[in-house]
Amino acid sequence: MAVPSRYDDVWSLSVRRGFLWPAVDLYGGFAGFYDYGHLGAAMKRNWESVWLEAFLGLDPNYQLIDTTIALPEAALKASGHVDHFTDLLVRCTKCKETWRADHLLEDVTHEAHEGLEPAEADAKIRELAVRCPKCKGELGPSQPFNMMFPVAVGPLGADRAYLRPETAQGAYLNFKREFEALRRRLPVGLAILGRCFRNEISPRQGTYRMREFLQAELQIFFDPGTWDAQVPFDGIAAKALHVAFADEKGKGGFAPIAAADLLARGLPRFYVYHMAAVQDFYLRTLGLPPDRFRFAELSEKERAFYNKVHFDIELKQDSLGGFKEVGGVHYRTDHDLGGHQRASKERLEVTVDGKKVLPHVLELSFGVDRNLWAILDLTYATGGKAVLRAPPRLAPIPVAVFPLMAKDGLDARASALCARLRRRVRAAYDEGGSIGKRYARMDEVGTPFCVTVDHDTLKDGTVTIRERDSTAQRRVSEDALFDALPALLAGERAFESL
Ligand code: GAP
Repeated sequence: MAVPSRYDDVWSLSVRRGFLWPAVDLYGGFAGFYDYGHLGAAMKRNWESVWLEAFLGLDPNYQLIDTTIALPEAALKASGHVDHFTDLLVRCTKCKETWRADHLLEDVTHEAHEGLEPAEADAKIRELAVRCPKCKGELGPSQPFNMMFPVAVGPLGADRAYLRPETAQGAYLNFKREFEALRRRLPVGLAILGRCFRNEISPRQGTYRMREFLQAELQIFFDPGTWDAQVPFDGIAAKALHVAFADEKGKGGFAPIAAADLLARGLPRFYVYHMAAVQDFYLRTLGLPPDRFRFAELSEKERAFYNKVHFDIELKQDSLGGFKEVGGVHYRTDHDLGGHQRASKERLEVTVDGKKVLPHVLELSFGVDRNLWAILDLTYATGGKAVLRAPPRLAPIPVAVFPLMAKDGLDARASALCARLRRRVRAAYDEGGSIGKRYARMDEVGTPFCVTVDHDTLKDGTVTIRERDSTAQRRVSEDALFDALPALLAGERAFESL
């Protein structure tokens, strides 16, 4: 498949300016692994903070925890990963290259083929006469390939373990302790932000399919008998959610549907309530273009067997050829706690209001790297002047300070202002080239505000502040700038009000 030129534009920005590049490229690269440069790392931190604020803010009983990356085999056997966390691998009989069977089929049909049994995949490969994309050789039979990375723990390697393929298990393993520590109430939300590892058969499309990646997941443990009635649904009942149902999503669009109408289609209230929170995160908090966001339903065949309801969160990215998954909302029922209870023989039921319950889990799951890529794709404007219109709160450098000229004490005054602003936010100082060139440099990395110190600053303490998206300018005192900047970045104060 031809790579869209948009993909190259986003890569060029990433590599040139310090967002992201393939890891270990000194040694020819390391397929599926990527490193973040200074701007990418800052943007990632910002995304994490905004995500935590948005989702932990939903309930006082939603908390951040931090759990181990290596997990023993027993825990991942109970979760089903040892036996079922597989993709179908096919090998070329001629050049011996390995491929993911469903990807080969998808490349031919432009439809998803996840969840096929080996015999089904082989039959389709024969039917569509799919050959090895590299040498056109004949493909061998499909076989399940477990995607976890094994690690041998201890000097003799006797204790078998794996690098976690999802953060979720850390929350399930710690649920009982947190339930006690959080004073025995439901719901309990446990969020984990952390690295995961999957030995992807064919890592491709840059950070879309990595072998080491960052997840942001919130596991919400609740009483299935009572929670549905407790969520404050009325406030969102009329809200139009962007939804593509399983039989429609292949067309590439979505239809807005009122939250209340999703209940009529059988979705639980708590599920729809959290869909609304996810949509708000993308459209209100991050301010991404509404036509680029949708929930895509997974059919029974596509979703994992333990997910009773599953919609992917998708963003339409020209660099990746359309709507692509960046996260998911998963109703996992009591599959996880039930599995760990059976295997560990520890009771994971809890007593709430005198009643014993094995909590169910609603999971909000996000791939941070995919989200960052999507934001670069959606906000990097290249026609004419290159501007990264990234949400201000995600901007790696929220403000830059320039002296009009690097003389007459303007440079010292601008450096002092920059140092002062750095007490509040990350601020850059730039005295190189014309002011226009300096604006252009900051525009391309998404800096929402640039401040210029000139001769009037020395007289009356005022500076010029320029807004990236409108290029409008205002004259304000240094003190007013210092006070207003956090609210401007948070979108709580309009630029025109300065
Ligand atoms: N705990 C549920 C879970 O892990 P998933 O759909 O397998 O569900 C969740 O993964 C999210 O993690 C995905 O929506 C995606 O954003 C991200 N993700 C999964 N595999 C990835 C990979 N190989 N590279 C980059 N991101 C990935």
